[in-house]
Amino acid sequence: MAGKVTVVGAGFYGSTTALRLAEYNVFDTVVLTDIVEGKPEGIALDINQSRSIEGFESKVVGATTTPEGGGYEATANSDVVVITAGLPRKPGMSRMDLIGVNAGIVRGVAENIAKHSPNAVIIVVSNPLDEMTALAQLATGFPRNRVMGQAGMLDTARFTNFVAEKLGVSVGSVKTLTLGSHGDTMVPVPSRCTVAGVPLSEKLSAQEIDELVTRTRNGGAEIVALLKTGSAYYAPSAAAARMAKAVMEDAGVVMPVCAWVDGEYGISGVYLGVEAQIGRAGIVKVVETDLSATELAELKVAAEAVRTKQADVQSL
Ligand code: NAI
Ligand code: 2OP
Repeated sequence: MAGKVTVVGAGFYGSTTALRLAEYNVFDTVVLTDIVEGKPEGIALDINQSRSIEGFESKVVGATTTPEGGGYEATANSDVVVITAGLPRKPGMSRMDLIGVNAGIVRGVAENIAKHSPNAVIIVVSNPLDEMTALAQLATGFPRNRVMGQAGMLDTARFTNFVAEKLGVSVGSVKTLTLGSHGDTMVPVPSRCTVAGVPLSEKLSAQEIDELVTRTRNGGAEIVALLKTGSAYYAPSAAAARMAKAVMEDAGVVMPVCAWVDGEYGISGVYLGVEAQIGRAGIVKVVETDLSATELAELKVAAEAVRTKQADVQSL
């Protein structure tokens, strides 16, 4: 074990992420913070008391922080920081409805993190995801390869689950991909989807694939509507925790993430959901994949949609 990861925000997403990271037994220390006094300390104590049962040695440290930066010493010199601070959606809300309030929170958190962990790789999950990732990069001033967002891992996992359920096959036999934004302009990529190596188009009709694509695009809202309060966190935390682990282990694996795009697919100057190689440097490189003409056109539409919103966050 080596290294330190901080999870900012001890709500549903943050606490489940901290638990997963601790159970991986990869990091020496998992720091969990929140502005609600005592909450991160309480969750840390609880997780640590599960260590002998689950057989992991990573130590979880809870720390109450203030928006002004109090308490951030506990996060100092983190190798990886996952930012989950911010409000989740309520039924009927879009992720974009959160932009004003979450921009203030994410900006403050990012500035404090940059002060105490100048060399960290940052993984943003707060919504709206693509915009909050761009804002975290601006607020930290970190090189763009060291700031990424989590969305594609989750959206892809949802798509995979829906395909596996529809066909009655194991999730392990299904490969899917989503690119674009974590929102209305999400781009599921059916041409890259396979079941036991066979193209998805040979297993399902175009209409059936379309239905699964739509359900994937609305995957977050479907859960928000069922929960009535708050949003998904089990699959989201699995996605962010796997990204943090890949960074710490310098894994070099290719994952769908929100990364700075600089010329790939003919798109430049925007944080967008693409496949990228993840390692100790954060984004090692964006990996371009073959897309159909329709998929490429949809990716360009997504890029322009998030570009406009990402420009807006500079003033928030
Ligand atoms: P939650 O409400 O359970 O937790 C948010 C936590 O952030 C609260 O405990 C709150 O006290 C804390 N917080 C607020 N301001 C803070 C600050 N300045 N410093 C530290 N902590 C602060 O919400 P949940 O479910 O954990 O979701 C968190 C965020 O993640 C939301 O914005 C949600 O929309 C987003 N999300 C993103 C997903 C993705 O795929 N990117 C998937 C699911 C959720
Ligand atoms: C999700 O996709 C709400 O972004 C969150 O579950």
